[in-house]
Amino acid sequence: MGEFSIRQARLGDAEGIYALIGANADRLVPRSLANIVESIDRFVVAEAGGGIAGCAAYQIHPEIGAPEAATVEIVSVAVRQDMRRRGMGRALVEAIADRARAFSPRELVTLTFSPEFFSSLGFAEVPKTKIMHKLYTGCINCTKHADPFTCPEIAMIRHVRERNL
Ligand SMILES: CC(C)(COP(=O)(O)OP(=O)(O)OC[C@H]1O[C@@H](n2cnc3c(N)ncnc32)[C@H](O)[C@@H]1OP(=O)(O)O)[C@@H](O)C(=O)NCCC(=O)NCCS
Repeated sequence: MGEFSIRQARLGDAEGIYALIGANADRLVPRSLANIVESIDRFVVAEAGGGIAGCAAYQIHPEIGAPEAATVEIVSVAVRQDMRRRGMGRALVEAIADRARAFSPRELVTLTFSPEFFSSLGFAEVPKTKIMHKLYTGCINCTKHADPFTCPEIAMIRHVRERNL
């Protein structure tokens, strides 16, 4: 009990990931199965008892005129209900952070309904005006909320590298 391993997602995991995201539709942006397949290389999964018990992924948001300032957003973080509070969510986010570290973004961002989880991982709340590029490349197409500034999700950031590096 409590045993799990984190690994790169495979195409064969796409349906399991789809089900996990769907089971947390109140807290996560919905994704089609095709979209998950197209982005499978950006997903990590947690395997437990021979099945998929958790997933996480990332998206890159460019900053106009400053390619080195692109932000990495942690998305689609979900852990099966019966496997929560065992460190799986933390391990999934850190696996995504390790990947991101390899291409050296300034910061990781998240928009979340679970601020306690992300603050335990070193993320701090920021005003949404600090992540305008994310709002323009992601939130602008949201079907849940017409205005990102009245959307109840909380914006949080964890720095990865110093500015100007
Ligand atoms: C948020 C979620 C991914 C956390 O997964 P998890 O595997 O339970 O998280 P962890 O066990 O790694 O928790 C790490 C720390 O986060 C904090 N934390 C996690 N869940 C929490 C909760 N419900 N309330 C308060 N703190 C919480 C705790 O500090 C915890 O450490 P502790 O257990 O030693 O106290 C999981 O609850 C989930 O799938 N929720 C639904 C989807 C969602 O909200 N995703 C995130 C939005 S982007």
